[in-house]
Amino acid sequence: MNKLGLFVGVVTLALTMSCGSKTQTNTEDYGDPKSTSEPASTELDEISLGAALVKKSDCNTCHHVTNTIIGPSHTDVAKKYEFTEENVQMLADRIIAGGSGVWGQVMMTTHPDITKDDAILMAKYVLSLDGEKEPE
Ligand code: HEC
Repeated sequence: MNKLGLFVGVVTLALTMSCGSKTQTNTEDYGDPKSTSEPASTELDEISLGAALVKKSDCNTCHHVTNTIIGPSHTDVAKKYEFTEENVQMLADRIIAGGSGVWGQVMMTTHPDITKDDAILMAKYVLSLDGEKEPE
């Protein structure tokens, strides 16, 4: 299959899946950010915000916290990259720009409507999933 065919296939699949979202239970695994009664620090706050943004967006169509679906599990992404300021910026840019080639041939869709600030929160949330803390 050529790249374009694959891309169209993934987009079609993503659209189909988001229409029939009743069967999707993935979102539960991302946890309810509101249940964190007292955020210990602003860092935790940012991660809860990032989790909420990921939940609200279409990410769960292709990503699960621990299972590879269409895209890599977000925990695998966290394990691959250290929680550094550069990696937060890099992943935030990738969340907006989409693309392929790092994990395989499958393309991640672009997210031009997500602001850089929101993408940074999402990237921090993803990078926190392997238990790493944001650098001071
Ligand atoms: C259409 C399916 C799809 C959607 C929707 C999607 N992703 Fe992805 N994502 C992928 C694929 C496929 C990859 C692997 C791309 C690659 O190999 O370069 C990926 C990779 C990533 C990576 C790792 C990038 C890297 O450079 O290693 C992050 C972080 C990520 N996605 C976050 C998100 C977030 C946050 C959202 C929601 C705003 C989202 N994704 C929505 C399919 C998707």
